Amino acid sequence: MSDKECVAKHAAKQVVDGMLVGLGTGSTANYFIEELAYRSREQGLKVITVASSVVSAIKAQQLGLTTVDFERVSYLDLYVDGADEVSPELTLLKGQGADLVREKLLATASEQFIVLIEASKLVARIGQHFAIPIEVMPCAWQLVKKQLEANGGHGDLRQNTHKKGVAISTHGSLIADISFDQHIDAKTLNEILNGISGIVEHGIFYGLATTVLVGINGQVQERQAGNF
Ligand code: A5P
Repeated sequence: MSDKECVAKHAAKQVVDGMLVGLGTGSTANYFIEELAYRSREQGLKVITVASSVVSAIKAQQLGLTTVDFERVSYLDLYVDGADEVSPELTLLKGQGADLVREKLLATASEQFIVLIEASKLVARIGQHFAIPIEVMPCAWQLVKKQLEANGGHGDLRQNTHKKGVAISTHGSLIADISFDQHIDAKTLNEILNGISGIVEHGIFYGLATTVLVGINGQVQERQAGNF
């Protein structure tokens, strides 16, 4: 079993009857959706789910999970998702897919947020391996770019998979991948990006994860927020 499957199974064991569970997006979140469906089918677990993306909603429905429309949700018990980077303080970088707006909305609304990663996602600082994904209102790109550059950011709009134009997020935003000077910590960067008008959302998830499950050679290591 891969480390992604290990952490997904571990997280699914923490789900109990009656929970409203948020489903993340990506290959690790997919394993969690599969395990949750298995527990529902084989063990009679009764849960309702809400998906962070169309692909996860379709997968959940195909596997027989009960789903509720995103628009109807104001609170959830548990949100489970992967991440692209996790720092020692459990700040996350997300958004290599194009669904970070819904992902952050669910993470923020949830009582618990369990993050599932392999050890390769652990970093000393956010931005170590990836630029920061930033969703921008299309009409505001030039204005936002100027603000980002004034704060030490550099980078450009993400290209679509065919490299024949810019990528568009699920919500119709442009996605910029921006790198910043190493001396700006994630907390400061989070505040800077939250304060720039025209940014719809960005990939720094600061203070949101309650638990990070790290898969290391078939074992699961659990890290709790506040214990580092
Ligand atoms: C989706 O937008 C991302 O935030 C994913 O959570 C992230 O890319 C992790 O994906 P994998 O589980 O496929 O590594």
